[in-house]
Amino acid sequence: MKLKQIDHIGIAVKDLGAAKVFYEQKLGVSVGAEETVGDMRIAFVPVGEVNLELIQPTTEDGVIGNFLSKRGEGVHHIAYEVGNVDQALEELNKKGVRLVDTTSRVGAGGKKVAFLHPKETQGVLTEIVEKKAD
Ligand code: CO
Repeated sequence: MKLKQIDHIGIAVKDLGAAKVFYEQKLGVSVGAEETVGDMRIAFVPVGEVNLELIQPTTEDGVIGNFLSKRGEGVHHIAYEVGNVDQALEELNKKGVRLVDTTSRVGAGGKKVAFLHPKETQGVLTEIVEKKAD
């Protein structure tokens, strides 16, 4: 398994519309199209090679809703690109790394993703992402 690069940084926001206005009008970057993934509204903001992933919960008791009520808005996770998420999970599992997802799931943009357990990663929720074949 090789971490190729940081794919995106997930940021939990209360109001995606307000966050989009801030990034576009104040920071001068373009925000991509919104999409719904499970109980989240998501928009990516490309900044060079890395994206920000703005995430607004659509329910209060989901993962992001809970994060917001406990910690408020802020950085939620870091996502690394790997060649193959399923192979990476198998390898991590063999190494005894605790995982949130033992099998990959479909995340934003229809990409294969999985999360490692934050207790294993010094409190940083870590996602691995597989680039979609073109
Ligand atoms: Co993410």
